[in-house]
Amino acid sequence: MNKSEIKARVERLKKVINYHRHLYHVLDRQEISDAALDSLKHELKKLEDDHPDLITPDSPTQRVGGQPLKSFKKAVHRVPMLSLEDIFEEKEFFDWLERIKKKEPSLIKPALFAEKKYDGLALSLLYKNGVLKKAATRGNGETGEDVTQNAKTIEAIPLRLELMLALDIDKKKAEAAVKSGVLEVRGEALISKKEFDRINKEQKQRGGQIYANPRNLAAGSIRQLDSRITASRKLDFIAYDLIADLGQKKHSEEHKILSVLGFKTDPEAKILEQPEQIFPFRKKTEKERNELPYEIDGLVAVVDDNVLFKKLGVAGKAPRAAVAFKFSPLEAAAKVKDIIIQVGRTGVLTPVAILEPIKIGGVTVSRATLHNEDEIRRLELKINDTVIVGRAGDVIPNIKKTLKALRSGKEKDFEMPKKCPVCGQPVKREKSGAIHRCENKKCQARSLRQLYYFVSKQGFDIEGLGPKTINALFGQGLIQDAADLFSLKEGDLAPLERFAEKSAQNIIKSIASRKEAGFARFIRSLGILNVGEKTAQDLADYFGSLKKLEKAGRQELENIPNIGEAVSQSIYDWFRDPYCRSFLKKLLKNVKIKNVKTRKSGKLKGLTFVLTGTLRNLSRDEAKAKIYELSGNVSEAVSKKTDYAVIGKEPGSKLAKAKKLGVKILNETEFLKLIKD
Ligand code: IVH
Repeated sequence: MNKSEIKARVERLKKVINYHRHLYHVLDRQEISDAALDSLKHELKKLEDDHPDLITPDSPTQRVGGQPLKSFKKAVHRVPMLSLEDIFEEKEFFDWLERIKKKEPSLIKPALFAEKKYDGLALSLLYKNGVLKKAATRGNGETGEDVTQNAKTIEAIPLRLELMLALDIDKKKAEAAVKSGVLEVRGEALISKKEFDRINKEQKQRGGQIYANPRNLAAGSIRQLDSRITASRKLDFIAYDLIADLGQKKHSEEHKILSVLGFKTDPEAKILEQPEQIFPFRKKTEKERNELPYEIDGLVAVVDDNVLFKKLGVAGKAPRAAVAFKFSPLEAAAKVKDIIIQVGRTGVLTPVAILEPIKIGGVTVSRATLHNEDEIRRLELKINDTVIVGRAGDVIPNIKKTLKALRSGKEKDFEMPKKCPVCGQPVKREKSGAIHRCENKKCQARSLRQLYYFVSKQGFDIEGLGPKTINALFGQGLIQDAADLFSLKEGDLAPLERFAEKSAQNIIKSIASRKEAGFARFIRSLGILNVGEKTAQDLADYFGSLKKLEKAGRQELENIPNIGEAVSQSIYDWFRDPYCRSFLKKLLKNVKIKNVKTRKSGKLKGLTFVLTGTLRNLSRDEAKAKIYELSGNVSEAVSKKTDYAVIGKEPGSKLAKAKKLGVKILNETEFLKLIKD
């Protein structure tokens, strides 16, 4: 290639690489593999190395800078970077509308543009003649820091502006404005929740700084003096504002132009013809918040008409024509008044913090779970401490941090009780982990919790029976366990306080309607430690009858995929505990198990397998499931009773043992053939 051919090749490579970058990092699509794109980048790098005069600042090879900076230069904003007024409630939204209507009477029902308020770090990107010249942080709004080299590492930021998509406004004008003027794009530099987890995990392993949330991490990454660190953090950028005249009349049109120019924008942002439409939109967005890849903390609502926007002007440091309609905060500080102990249905003692009531996530909260003793230690929590309480989505509130600096000296240490606070019997600290358990199976707290569980949707799902009625029945001595429910009569309920005849009738009816239960539901309602819906279903499928389940040994239980030592132990123990057995007997007098299916007789009936080593085509659990489906059994150890040893890659000592005992050995192919239908 002569020089002009090389130059042309370099230009074409840059264009093609940029096309695929945009496709992948902005549009979330991919046409060629990572490896193929890498090889194109490689070729470009090599040509540029050989001909350094061909290197341009917008070349994809220029995304990561060479030497770390000593410090950031100041960057004065051409147009101040304003902030937004925060509002939280419906009333504040209407107040805002009223205020702007007063200011600008021509605005009766202004169309708004609503978009997500991304929780990252604001960046201003300055393009001259279409090429990225400067990227700056917001700073104090007037002056920020020049973080150009770091912004360049963000693949979602174009280094050169091109009209990447079709445009429905004046294309010529837009092209001319891009090519020969100054254009500023503002938006948010972000780190996804997934990337946040990955980086924090990595930081922890190497003893580095742990970041509190994705916003801090994004800010910390943009403010690295070594752009190689920024590049390793995979930041993203979502644009929300365009400062340049490309013929747009509305903020919504700016969004369109931004995506045409190759930027990512909020895909769900929309025009609201009626301002009140913001309420359902905010509700929907708040609901989806947890599922989104990025943290958001509300919506931004903007008067869509740019002429009106300008007319409304600025109040303080914020434009009047826009508000941040924030979600209810998910964190707040609160004082821990006390720590109490709750006894669960399996006897586990859970410490719970009693808080001065505070509002988080839109609801008032007065308690937060502390999980166990280790959690209290981790938080270094004392009674009377001030803490940060968080609530993510529908999850129960939890304590995130103790603010030790706020201690007054009146704080008191908390210790887990040695005796159950309900029945007074000794509490045992389990070897595995920080669990304390009341050993008394007849403990009132346990019985009550077990009853709540039994009648709940996870259990027998008895309509109309909730904790309140259970408390009343239990308190009057009318029931002691779930089996007693089935012998209750209408008259037993009637004398209870606040009990109408009609509801008594209904409850008795719904109890009666549950006198037959599916096997899986029956098992899960027993309240066996570690046995939830999924395990109950697995047990029902595997054993088909209560007789078989009752008799199952630990080894047989562990043959079932997903059942490990701890689960098998608790199932085994439950069926051998005299108290549990007598409850079972009593329950069976009233409840019939229906639809009992027995295992189909398959071609591996009576055969026992041992698996060792890694199989290429299926996981160990899948192999176990397949054997079991065909009526075979799986054992962990090789013995004389083993019929087949299935050997995968890198088998353990089981292979030698199988050989010694003369057990038939199958490789993966032979095994697959055997289990083929
Ligand atoms: S402002 C002209 N939109 O919130 C209207 N700000 O502005 C421009 N932020 O620190 C819209 N997402 O970093 C706007 N969609 C969004 C935003 C947003 C996040 C941040 C921004 C700034 C703060 C206040």
